[in-house]
Amino acid sequence: MNFSLTEEQLMIQQAARDFAQNELLPGVIDRDEAQKFPKEQVKQMGELGFLGMMVNEKYSGSGLDTLSYVLVMEELSKVDASSSVIVSVNNSLVCWGLETYGTEEQKEKYLHRLATGQIIGAFCLSEPEAGSDATSQKTTAIDKGDHYVLNGTKNWITNGGTAEVYLVIAQTDKEKGHKGINALIVEKGTPGFEIGPKENKLGIRGSDTHSLMFTDVKVPKENRIGEDGFGFKFAMKTLAGGRIGIAAQALGIAAGAYELALQYSKVRKAFGTEICNHQAIAFKLADMHTKIQAARHLVYQAACDKDAGENYDLSGAMAKLYAAETAMEVATEAVQIHGGNGFVKEYHVERLMRDAKITQIYEGTSEIQKIVISRSILRD
Ligand code: CAA
Repeated sequence: MNFSLTEEQLMIQQAARDFAQNELLPGVIDRDEAQKFPKEQVKQMGELGFLGMMVNEKYSGSGLDTLSYVLVMEELSKVDASSSVIVSVNNSLVCWGLETYGTEEQKEKYLHRLATGQIIGAFCLSEPEAGSDATSQKTTAIDKGDHYVLNGTKNWITNGGTAEVYLVIAQTDKEKGHKGINALIVEKGTPGFEIGPKENKLGIRGSDTHSLMFTDVKVPKENRIGEDGFGFKFAMKTLAGGRIGIAAQALGIAAGAYELALQYSKVRKAFGTEICNHQAIAFKLADMHTKIQAARHLVYQAACDKDAGENYDLSGAMAKLYAAETAMEVATEAVQIHGGNGFVKEYHVERLMRDAKITQIYEGTSEIQKIVISRSILRD
């Protein structure tokens, strides 16, 4: 494994680092407090090419590799995971899914605007009764010849209120189980499509999470992605890549919390010396640094597997599992190292700890990653 970055990758990493410090950091505490969507920052990220990083230039994307995308996710997430999840969903789930499985007409119609951030997209799989058990879709898409009629509810949808384009997974033929599921492109404003209130969340509070309700929504057949019955596989294949993006987000949260704790430990004094000179703190920093490096290797490896055209279901799941667990652990320790200050918003680490939690839950909980990993190693 050789993760020496190219000149171009280093430049992209630096651009994301600068953007995070200059544009995301100011106001991040207020946005978290007020649950304010980072509208202006999303526009800027679109201009920088961060919203369609892997999309081919012919569809107005940046035409970059997955490793570059991971580097950007890591840098943004060190500072503001609410903003980075918007980047992750738009890139990995919406743009990648459409570019890989959409028709030429669908790509022409939606990708240019999605890749440049003129509009953003949402991926709608979870339901009140279908979270981890994703095949149990209750939302129905009944085939009416030239269109589908969509009915049901989706839950916890990232970009739910701000998106213009929604990729909705729904059951067309219950008898066929997961082989009867379809993925449909639904535009905001389609009659019968309603957006529920914004969720009041523990973390990533600046991101925009909603329920969505569909009542007799007519969706033209040409909005189906892939063949009839391809919807579940579409969701699984898309999520496999999405997990690399969320793993990079978790890595960034861990690295951001660690960097703050390291700096703090060098200036805060107790018992007559800087606290980093106490073994209790130094050993915590040693564990945090080691776990972050291990997570980074797993995340970069998964990205390289995807770029090399290898199967990345296993490496992506391992990266997501380990990076998410590391994010939670490291952010919690960063709060501990900060002591009383860690409990106060202006030191940032309490927010990183709250933001870390979701990485163990969305795009497949840690337990789901263990299902994917164990099935893969037992099959081979
Ligand atoms: N690629 C291609 N096909 C896949 C696949 C993959 N990675 N994983 C599964 N499949 C296929 C299987 O091969 C099978 O097809 P066949 O019968 O033709 O072989 C079919 O899908 C069903 O697979 P399983 O029998 O393994 O299904 P299961 O019911 O046991 O569930 C699971 C598998 C991995 C647990 C899956 O349900 C899962 O991933 N659950 C978690 C869902 C999830 O991640 N939700 C996140 C919501 S999106 C989100 O969070 C976005 C956001 O806003 C941030």
